[in-house]
Amino acid sequence: MVYLSMGEPDFATPEHVKQTGIRAIQRGETRYTAMDGTVQLKDAIGRKLLRDNRLTYQRHQITVTAGGTQAIFNVMLATVGPGDEVILPAPFFQPYLSAILLCGATPVILPTREEEGFMPRAKRIAEVVTEKTRWLILNSPSNPAGAVIDRTELAEIAALLRQHPDVLVFSDDIYESIYYGDEPFSNIVNVAPDLADRTLILNGISKAYAMTGWRIGYLAGPEPLVAAVSQVTATSTFTASSIAQAAAVEALDGPQASLVTQNAAYRNRRDLMVDKVNQIPGLHCRTPDGAFYLFINCSQFVGKRTPEGTLISDDLGFVLHLLNHAGLASVQGSAFGMPGFIRIAYAASEETLNEAADRLAAACTALR
Ligand SMILES: Cc1ncc(COP(=O)(O)O)c(C=O)c1O
Repeated sequence: MVYLSMGEPDFATPEHVKQTGIRAIQRGETRYTAMDGTVQLKDAIGRKLLRDNRLTYQRHQITVTAGGTQAIFNVMLATVGPGDEVILPAPFFQPYLSAILLCGATPVILPTREEEGFMPRAKRIAEVVTEKTRWLILNSPSNPAGAVIDRTELAEIAALLRQHPDVLVFSDDIYESIYYGDEPFSNIVNVAPDLADRTLILNGISKAYAMTGWRIGYLAGPEPLVAAVSQVTATSTFTASSIAQAAAVEALDGPQASLVTQNAAYRNRRDLMVDKVNQIPGLHCRTPDGAFYLFINCSQFVGKRTPEGTLISDDLGFVLHLLNHAGLASVQGSAFGMPGFIRIAYAASEETLNEAADRLAAACTALR
């Protein structure tokens, strides 16, 4: 079986970070921490935001969670309920939808267009924003499409938001370090500093430092919002792991060389897979500007039949065919709110990717 279904780096956590975690255990840093994160970690996050994002946040504007996914849930739990609307561009990272629904709020799913690189457009956001809109979710680079919202579009979104002063902005930057653009990465606060007082930035160490199992995420934004989220964390999980927090300080403050080498490796893998996928008749995908996913259009295979005669009735049927016929694990686009596609994660060795491409081609050829 070849697994391209999981959204996590295949690299190891850097050795100096692992050793810091071990030393934290040996030093006895094994107790509850401050509920919104250790002072050391919040300060390291502040330094990171200044160094990488040219943004200034103080300790009280930062809160630490047990992974970015928990941050998403805690933000929604702290801020929305029945009657509130949350604009969620599709395709989206599925926990956003779950968190919105769990809180009884209304997800306003806004499909993006393949021909526009799956980028959320200000003019289409304008069509769905209402007096009930509480949040606009922006995720750039995005999971699953790898879409990057460029500075021009960010400026247009900011201009729209200025007409709607009550809408909060959730800027999910978790893939910022896996980015292939020529210009420096920008989020909406970089482009529109006046929106800082209603934007929450989400980031974490999972993707950048290959630390998905350590479970550290963080939010930076205006103090009242951050304090409300910290309350939810404090009353639900107390704190993120003390050991993982100590290691996260080293990840953020220590040598950053692995980011550069990994980015180069991801870019090579992206180019390899985009090329291979686009050579398979019936499939096509765009070259994404960030993250480590390809969002592949498989709609031409819907309506075809497997050699056993099973009808491929949708993208899930196609994914099951890849699994059964070729031993290739991927994820159906409908799980991200956009049917007719599959997502593969190319965070795997070139050998694995070559094998996956061969299996994908064979599985497609088998359909009639
Ligand atoms: C868009 C996006 N945001 C947030 C996360 C959360 O990652 P974690 O919970 O590992 O910090 C993920 C993980 O896949 C993601 O794809």
